[in-house]
Amino acid sequence: RAVAILKEFEDKCGTPIGKLRQIADAMTVEMHAGLASEGGSKLKMLISFVDNLPTGNEKGLFYALDLGGTNFRVLRVLLGGKESGVVKQESEEVSIPEHLMIGSSHELFDFIAAALAKFVATEGEGLHVSPGKQRELGFTFSFPVRQTSLSSGNLIKWTKGFSIEDAVGEDVVGELTKAMERIGLDMRVSALVNDTIGTLAGGRYHHQDVIAAVILGTGTNAAYVERAHAIPKWQGLLPKSGEMASILQILVINMEWGNFRSSHLPLTEYDQALDDESKNPGEQIFEKAISGMYLGEIVRRVLYRMAEEAAFFGDTVPPKLKIPYILRTPDMSAMHHDTSSDLKVVGNKLKDILEISNTSLKMRKVIVEVCDIVATRGARLSAAAIVGILKKLGRDTVRDGEKQKSVIALDGGLFEHYKKFSGCMKSTVKELLGEEVAENIVIEHFDDGSGIGAALLAASHSQYLEIEE
Ligand code: BG6
Ligand code: GLC
Repeated sequence: RAVAILKEFEDKCGTPIGKLRQIADAMTVEMHAGLASEGGSKLKMLISFVDNLPTGNEKGLFYALDLGGTNFRVLRVLLGGKESGVVKQESEEVSIPEHLMIGSSHELFDFIAAALAKFVATEGEGLHVSPGKQRELGFTFSFPVRQTSLSSGNLIKWTKGFSIEDAVGEDVVGELTKAMERIGLDMRVSALVNDTIGTLAGGRYHHQDVIAAVILGTGTNAAYVERAHAIPKWQGLLPKSGEMASILQILVINMEWGNFRSSHLPLTEYDQALDDESKNPGEQIFEKAISGMYLGEIVRRVLYRMAEEAAFFGDTVPPKLKIPYILRTPDMSAMHHDTSSDLKVVGNKLKDILEISNTSLKMRKVIVEVCDIVATRGARLSAAAIVGILKKLGRDTVRDGEKQKSVIALDGGLFEHYKKFSGCMKSTVKELLGEEVAENIVIEHFDDGSGIGAALLAASHSQYLEIEE
């Protein structure tokens, strides 16, 4: 009976190449729709106000703050311009206490400002801004934001388990600035960016051919460089179109692809139940099938069904197995990568996390199989989404034998640590594009690109730029 549940699950999660092509096509179609008008698609295709990317000339000391991944981070970066690049970089990680993720805006931003102030206090020799100058900060805020300028924007909604009602609709830079003022920290937010935008900027700093960035972490999302004239809703925003539009060549778009939806997505009753019971039902459906916050939870739900309906773990359902999100994706990954002949790691994880002992090798194999199905589906779906972007940019074919490189900057814990996931994602991109095209597509991990990227964008939008030039 457990095997029947497993087989049914496997069938429903199937991602044959034809289906992936339909999903890639649907992604391209939704990208067009989201660019055409506000609310034109589930894909928000948010305009980031980033119209030029780092050149390498950026200079000076800048701060960055990164909120929205597993950890909240603060960074200090000394940029030395073309000659010296990143001269020095210091950072600190602080985990956000869970109660702050669902508390009030005031509390969250007070906590962030306090951590930032503590970090600023550790400025060492040669690592401080010149007297009389204000410190400047690039703020990576990894949630959907409707930007009103490069350095301001209102939170559209929370994702990834955050839920702070009074912050929705507010200008997050305003909130942070007020919190900094409350504790007397003199700092100006020069750039507000999504983590995908930060990663794109950080990636471009190292590699001129970076055209898109993808995050596969707690959540998932992508940003890419779009031609300004291909964004009808941007033209509509301009007071007198034509003028500005012709000056601007490019604009970076934050797709918010986590909210993508398509009837072609291979979703199951487990996904449906996970969504129903989540903090944001009906939202971020793509993200819930792919990203690190959810993969382990899908596995738990399948195992729970096996326990309940097929007595997979014996006569009673192990009580721990009932607890949502108890099985984290890093644990799932450890089980999936277990190479020992008796699947020792799987046995230990079951014991330590779920308090299930005496599992047979056969049972452990079934569990690894569940992990494989969930990870493979997520990885192949993210590959299809990447191909959707390449299609939108016309980079999914080789034209006239032209060998134009397209680099995609990747970051996030899921991509970095879950090797079977990232391996499968990369090979699926190849499978979808074919060898010849795939030769020109580089998927590269840019560690901590988003922090540096935010600092770089703060630098290129510094209030002191004119004085320094
Ligand atoms: C980091 C970026 O490297 O990846 C963050 O700097 C981003 O901005 C994060 O949010 C995503 O990773 P995770 O796995 O912590 O959600
Ligand atoms: C979620 C957020 C998005 C972010 C992504 C990766 O999807 O909504 O803004 O980029 O997670 O962190």
